[in-house]
This record gives sequence, structure tokens and C-alpha cells, in this order.
Amino acid sequence: MEFSVKSGQLDTLRTDCLIVQVYADKTLSGAAKVLDKKYQLISRLIELNELTLKAGQCAWALPPSGTAFKRLLVVCLGSKNNAVTSQDIRTSVQAVAKALKGKQIKNAVWSVENASSVADNVFATLIAETFVTSLYTYQETKTQNLSTPALTKLTVHSDAKLSSAWRSGLQQGKATGDGINTARHLGNLPGNICTPTYLAKKAQSLAGGKLTVNVLDEKQIAKLGMGAFLSVAAGSDQPAKFIVMQYRGAAASVEPVVLVGKGITFDTGGISIKPGPAMDEMKFDMCGAASVLGVMTTLKQLQPRINVVGLIAATENMPSGKATKPGDVVTSMSGQTIEILNTDAEGRLVLCDALTYAERFKPKAVIDIATLTGACVIALGNHASGLYANDQALADELLAAGQAAHDRAWQMPLWDDYQKALDSNFADMANVGGREGGSITAACFLSRYTKNYKWAHLDIAGTAWLGGGAKGATGRPVGLLLQYLIGAYTG
Ligand code: BES
Ligand code: MN
Ligand code: ZN
Repeated sequence: MEFSVKSGQLDTLRTDCLIVQVYADKTLSGAAKVLDKKYQLISRLIELNELTLKAGQCAWALPPSGTAFKRLLVVCLGSKNNAVTSQDIRTSVQAVAKALKGKQIKNAVWSVENASSVADNVFATLIAETFVTSLYTYQETKTQNLSTPALTKLTVHSDAKLSSAWRSGLQQGKATGDGINTARHLGNLPGNICTPTYLAKKAQSLAGGKLTVNVLDEKQIAKLGMGAFLSVAAGSDQPAKFIVMQYRGAAASVEPVVLVGKGITFDTGGISIKPGPAMDEMKFDMCGAASVLGVMTTLKQLQPRINVVGLIAATENMPSGKATKPGDVVTSMSGQTIEILNTDAEGRLVLCDALTYAERFKPKAVIDIATLTGACVIALGNHASGLYANDQALADELLAAGQAAHDRAWQMPLWDDYQKALDSNFADMANVGGREGGSITAACFLSRYTKNYKWAHLDIAGTAWLGGGAKGATGRPVGLLLQYLIGAYTG
């Protein structure tokens, strides 16, 4: 999808569809007023109650033949006087994209008026990002009922003096949308395509410019002493990969943020095998890794002046004659030993070694992103990601970022009281702590590997994908992470 900015007289722009704004109090945007004087299309829609005037409500009108715009789409943005919220904008753009999606509309012109509480460039970001994410469709493994949207070009019509803010905002929105879609797409791919090797190739395909990528194979992973990570890979015929991505947008002296993604490309549970129903959804168990690749996709496009490292521990979790068994004891890269009481608690095993590896970057902060526990889904459902941190300032920043991106997280306790659930008679710790507080004890496990830096953990088990009829990856928490890293939604 391509975005551009134009100014000048609106109704002389040739387009398949002109989009204009109205507000909940029946007022029209400046451009809509001018247009309505000439064509009376909008006031008639309002008179006929074709517009109920809630944020996101759309109505179509057809101008007389020969007019430069072939169709008119009127959208209600919400309440005027700077009371349009960023959420109203998202809702409205989603509705516009949906209205355009089914039609043979190749290009559209949106006559923007910023009556919102956000700056012009942020309005622009929200428009571009929401278009890009709304028009995403999964096609990769389908041959029938393909629905490629016709729309490929959106022009924003604005005041000439605002065009540079709009232009940069659109570019930022397109880049964030591409990052979110990258994460969604990788998540949606089936486990027989999206293997650890596939993730490594995807990472390598992003390399270039300010982004370097290094993929370690099992031999190199063993040399690092990542015994916990390799114990998960033991049962799989697909070779494990440890992916190191370094985005260098600032001087080498600037401490990086390290993102660590759980990349279980399929989680059967291993010898502690999962029950059959909905096991297919365990192809989404690499959504943490996908979010790291999504963030890197956006950074590569926008080239912000920051340093970010992305680490991905990628493997399948499979049962086999070579698989790790309950009761096995392994040694992590940190030297701490782990009694594996349940091979289905594999995420923490791959993450703990990646978190130890993260130390070498002398990070400003480390954030791991993982579809870690079913217990987190029970606790928070599908709306909030679980957030844990050993540093409250970092937690606060991430909570605020989630609010701004509308990709929200909710902080959970990391109290010492929960740690004793991980006691083991045969190793330094067990890998599970029982059913109660399962998301918290998983975070407690990780906290034992993150003592040397500021760290946060996002449990995205409930938010990374949707089940049921809308089954598919969401791209979360790419928005939250981009807001934290570059202020994607606040400029
Ligand atoms: N990938 C799962 C977590 C998961 C389960 C996410 C269901 C979303 C939906 C993880 O590897 C896992 O299996 N966790 C176990 C931990 C338990 C054995 C302590 C779980 O949540 O059941
Ligand atoms: Mn598991
Ligand atoms: Zn898992």
C-alpha cells in the first residue's frame, strides 16, 4: 500500500473514492462543508438518517457523473472540538478500510481535518497503520477464495502547510503497520512451513544497512553451554536456531534495549504431551519471536537513532526417543541446574539461556516476549498482556506504552513469596511451580536469570492470537514495543 499527501482544490482530484469527515454533533469538516455547498450529498445523508453519527459510522453517496471523484464515503470521526480520541481514529479508519475492502476501489483520497486530541503526524500514523493492518489477509497456503483488496493507494488531502507532518506520519504508520503484519503473518504460517530454519531465513532476509543478523546452529548453541535451550530441542528433527539481530541506529556507546522472543515453532508439550483439542494453535507459540522480527522490520524502515538487539531462541517442542523426560536435570548457560518436571513448560527453558546471553550487550533494558502460560490467559483473558518487571520505572514505561499504542499490558506481582514453588530436591530449581499462580511462577523462574540488568517479561499467551472464527495472529505486542522504543504513537 502506498501513501501520499496532496493539497489544493479537493473536488478536482481524480479518484475512485473521496473520503470526508463528519462529527457526532452533525457538524461537517471544513472540506465537507465546502463540498456540500456544491453537491448537497452529505447533508442529505444526515437528513435521511443514513449516518447515526457514532465514531466509525460510514455512509456512501454517489456524485453526479463526470465529477472527478467517483464515489463519496462519509465517515464520522466522533465528537468534535479536539475530543476525537486516538481510539476513535482507529475505529474510524478500520470502518473506512472495511467499507473500501469489498469494492473495486484502487485509490482513494481522504480529506483530513484534525479535530482530535493527537498531533497531525500521529493522526497520520494512525491512518496509515490502521489501513495497512486492516487490509492484511492471509493467503499464503490458500488456493481458493482469495480476496486481495483492490486498494493500493491512499492520498491524504490536507493544508499545504501541514503536508510535511502528514508525510512523515504516514511513513511512520506504514512502517509500524508493516511490522505488525510481519508478526501476524509469521504467526499465522503453519508449523510445517514456519520452522526454526524458516525464522532464521526470515531474519537473514532483513539483514543489511544498520541491521546485522547472525544465526547460531546447534553446535554453536552447545558451545555456549545453553543446556536448557537444547533440552527442548532434543526431541525435534528440525534443527534449533539461535538468532541474533543487531540494529545499530546510534553510536556504539549507546546501550541497547534487548528484545528476547520465545520461538517455539510448534509446542506439542513434548513427553508431557498436550491433549488434542486446539493443539493446532500451538503453531502460534513463536509469536514472541515474530514480534521481535516485526519490530526489526519497522526499525529497518524508519532508521531511528537507537540501538536494539533482537534475540530469538527457536525450536520445536516434540516427543521422541531422544526427547527430554520428566525428572531429567539440565544445566543452563548461567550454570544453574534445572529439574524438568514438565516438558510442556519449555518456553522458560529456551528463554533462560537467551536471557543469560543478553548480558553480553550490557543492555539498558531487556524485555522478553513469550506465549508463556495458559495461566496468563485464565488471569487476564485476551485483552491485556501480562507484564512482570524487576524495575518499576521500566514497568511504568511499558504500561504507558501499551496505553498509547492501545496494545495494553497489566502488571502482575513478582514477589519473592512465589519463588519457593520452584524448589527442587534434585536441582537448583524445578521448571514448574504447580497450577496456582502459574503465570507468576513462570516469571519467577525467568527472574533467576535476569539479576544483572533491568528486565521486563511480557506474557502474551492471551493476546498474541485470537481463536474461534477469527483465528489468527494479532501482531501484538509490536505496537507496545514500538511505542516504548520510538514513541510510534506520540511522535
Ligand atoms: N505455549 C504454552 C502456553 C500456552 C498454552 C499459551 C495455551 C497459550 C495457550 C506453554 O509452553 C505451556 O505449555 N505452558 C504450560 C505450563 C505448565 C506446564 C506449567 C501451561 O500453561 O499449561
Ligand atoms: Mn508448552
Ligand atoms: Zn509453549
